[in-house]
Amino acid sequence: AAIRHHTFVVEEAPYTRLCSTKNIMTINGNFPGETLHVHRGDTLIVHVVNRSPHNITIHWHGVNQPRYPWADGPEYITQCPIQPGGGKFSQKVIFTTEEGTLWWHAHSEWTRATVYGAIIVYPKKGHAYPFPKPHADLPIIFGEWWKQDIFELFDDFRRSGGDPLVSHAITINGQPGDRYNCSGQDMFKLAVDQGKTYLLRLINAAMQDILFFSIAGHQLTVVGTDGTYTKPFKSDYITISPGQTIDVLLRADHPIAASYYMAAKFYSSARAAVNLNTTTALLHYTTNNTTTTPTAVSLSATADTNASVAFTARFRSLADKKHPVDVPQKADTNLYFTLSMNAVPCPAGATCAGPNGARLAASVNNVSLVLPTSMDVLGAYYRGIGGVYGDDFPSNPPVSFDFTNLTIPAVYRTPATGNQVRMLEYNSSVELVFQGTNLLGGVDHPMHLHGTNFYVVGWGFGNFDRAKDANKTYNLVDPPFQNTIAVPRNGWVAVRFKATNPGVWFMHCHLERHASWGMGMTFIVKNGKGPNDKMLPPPSDMPPC
Ligand code: C2O
Ligand code: CU
Repeated sequence: AAIRHHTFVVEEAPYTRLCSTKNIMTINGNFPGETLHVHRGDTLIVHVVNRSPHNITIHWHGVNQPRYPWADGPEYITQCPIQPGGGKFSQKVIFTTEEGTLWWHAHSEWTRATVYGAIIVYPKKGHAYPFPKPHADLPIIFGEWWKQDIFELFDDFRRSGGDPLVSHAITINGQPGDRYNCSGQDMFKLAVDQGKTYLLRLINAAMQDILFFSIAGHQLTVVGTDGTYTKPFKSDYITISPGQTIDVLLRADHPIAASYYMAAKFYSSARAAVNLNTTTALLHYTTNNTTTTPTAVSLSATADTNASVAFTARFRSLADKKHPVDVPQKADTNLYFTLSMNAVPCPAGATCAGPNGARLAASVNNVSLVLPTSMDVLGAYYRGIGGVYGDDFPSNPPVSFDFTNLTIPAVYRTPATGNQVRMLEYNSSVELVFQGTNLLGGVDHPMHLHGTNFYVVGWGFGNFDRAKDANKTYNLVDPPFQNTIAVPRNGWVAVRFKATNPGVWFMHCHLERHASWGMGMTFIVKNGKGPNDKMLPPPSDMPPC
């Protein structure tokens, strides 16, 4: 396994989209950021230097960082931000069992809007993919573009207490496509050779949107997600959550004279849909120089929850000799977390744009996360410094209730605020059930866990019922191994994992507005007894708080 060094200079650079130019945060001036290529088991040392005028942190989404949360990146959870004006942090990114597609992104305020890139993890040298070797690898990264400055957007969002401004475009590899006013030729174009098979590494880096994606006329064969392989299945469309990656094989087996649209569009189970734009990219064959009208693509309706969950429910781990699964057959720690939106009183003297003049918030088990600002949770934990976090995050919701009901129980109108963590014993087998709710007209929540993937063992609509659902309907044989899972509004998802990675690990909704409203919490996996069951010591250059 190799150790490779990279330099990430954080700097602002001007970019023009939709006929308007603004300075954006970038790494080395690139948007989207560069693709990192590694082999399974490699280590990267990324030397981050902040030459921008803003705070930043960088996260390696889906990389487990065994025993080494120090370089994980979420601000005020595992580190304080890297300061503007030359602040430095050399981050060790440790790849072990991941193989497939992951990504990196900024993890401070809303800087990830433009600071993101793909990570391709190839099999170990001399090892094969579990499918015929593709002719080429192509990252397809979905994002979102606002004409506003992202820092102003974030400030306005914070100040208003209401929904954030809807983005002006969804992007594919940084381009909005040809359907927006003034986007003209700003379209990502993919040239393929007829007869070849390509591995498309789809990454949803969008801030606020779960997406549908299709390519006109071409079926896709899904072969992986979130840095693992899956049993192959064919589909005409993809549903992809912010945070999620999906690997698909594309066989270029169509007439070369034609070209084909690829398109992405917002999926939402909320009653009011927001961004209804369709974003396009183009697939064409290398020998085709004609300019025929591309074949159109049709996507599911924005509110088509059935199409969304039908796709998501098809994932299965390979679960073969070379790719074994290790699903906890029993859980010794049972957690049941509700995910809900809240409306809290507007601060005195302010005006708030939430429902009935309230301020919007979001919570897990009715606790709305407020990040510390003086110090990070990991530093406080390691040094035994009090007052930064509490350690009694509830295992169950404060009231038992029909969470699919439209009426909000009073207690949910006033979520607790603060920074509570949940301690996990080393090596414990955890079952975590996410319960979607209908409070304030809910929506699907793509929940993401740092530090480990989890097995998605079950899901359903309605209220989770342990007696009826646990084990009986679970897949404990070949469940998919993901780091992000969309929890349906009015439904639940059960995941299981073993707490074998000692450290401080953030868990949150990957819709940025929800995370900012407080839909997140932190797990601390305690050290085990053996010398290799303990957290490694911090590097000497942790950014100062
Ligand atoms: Cu992709 Cu906590 O993030
Ligand atoms: Cu959410």
